[in-house]
Amino acid sequence: MDSTISSFEHHLRDNAGKVEAVLSRLLADARLNDEIARPARLLEAMRHGVLNGGKRLRPFLVMETAALLGGNADAALRIGAALECVHCYSLVHDDLPAMDDDDLRRGQPTVHIAFDYATAILAGDSLLTYAFDIIAAPETDLPADRKMELVLALSRAAGIGGMAGGQALDLAAEKVTPDEQGITTLQAMKTGALIRFACEAGAIMAGASAGDRQRLRSFGEKIGLAFQLADDLLDLTADAATMGKATGKDAARGKGTLVALHGREWAETTLARLVSEAAGLLSGYGDKADVLVETARFVANRKN
Ligand code: IPE
Ligand code: IPE
Ligand code: MG
Ligand code: MG
Ligand code: MG
Repeated sequence: MDSTISSFEHHLRDNAGKVEAVLSRLLADARLNDEIARPARLLEAMRHGVLNGGKRLRPFLVMETAALLGGNADAALRIGAALECVHCYSLVHDDLPAMDDDDLRRGQPTVHIAFDYATAILAGDSLLTYAFDIIAAPETDLPADRKMELVLALSRAAGIGGMAGGQALDLAAEKVTPDEQGITTLQAMKTGALIRFACEAGAIMAGASAGDRQRLRSFGEKIGLAFQLADDLLDLTADAATMGKATGKDAARGKGTLVALHGREWAETTLARLVSEAAGLLSGYGDKADVLVETARFVANRKN
């Protein structure tokens, strides 16, 4: 056991191993029913964009919220893998020259560097589509109405009113700096929406009450904001070797971030407040929610 990391981080890593095993099976050579062929180079690029490390935080949240509310663990693993496909697609496209123009991701060349621009675009397209395939497929052991709710919630989180819309606002913010409300909205969309979905998905899968679902959703919103605030802080304070991606770029590109607006100290105080608000939302679940509360702390204090 690596004594330099906490037991929470061991748990996160163990879980990441399970998620990777599922993703690796999903991205195997063999074509699925009704797929005509899996072009080798495109599949290789998808694997490069997905099976390249990563904290697998979003699948972890799906699995832990499902566990809290009594959802089926195998189905949670597949929904987590589907969400990770959307997340990885968002990173492949985020790194393209037309967006953040980054060469390094998770310590390796980005997909458009390792392959080519067109292949990176298509790998992203294929990953996004595959996410909905994974949810709908018969191997995902959930009632049809819950699958439909998951598809709807993930569509809303990933599309124009969620991640993709947030990315558009993020790029626009390089030209005209938004005010505080504008930055909060863009962050809730580009990063927060998928993290909120991760937390709400566990409740949807479990067929939880409206109250439970709303609580988990609010918890997801808090840690989603904390997640991007920590990312922006790390862009300022961490190095590329630790992060596995370039740092120090947000200020250079004039990205609208709350760290740029209010400074480091404010960001640290706000992170602590978000964690305590997130924990407060789950207080009614007692120690059953310890792992999720620990996750909120990890999100705020993470070092990469
Ligand atoms: C990075 O997400 C992109 C943001 C939304 C800020 P993560 O920090 O979760 O990236 P991986 O998946 O661990 O590489
Ligand atoms: C990315 O935000 C958010 C999405 C990919 C949706 P960033 O551009 O800050 O993420 P990093 O820093 O490149 O990981
Ligand atoms: Mg970006
Ligand atoms: Mg980026
Ligand atoms: Mg960033």
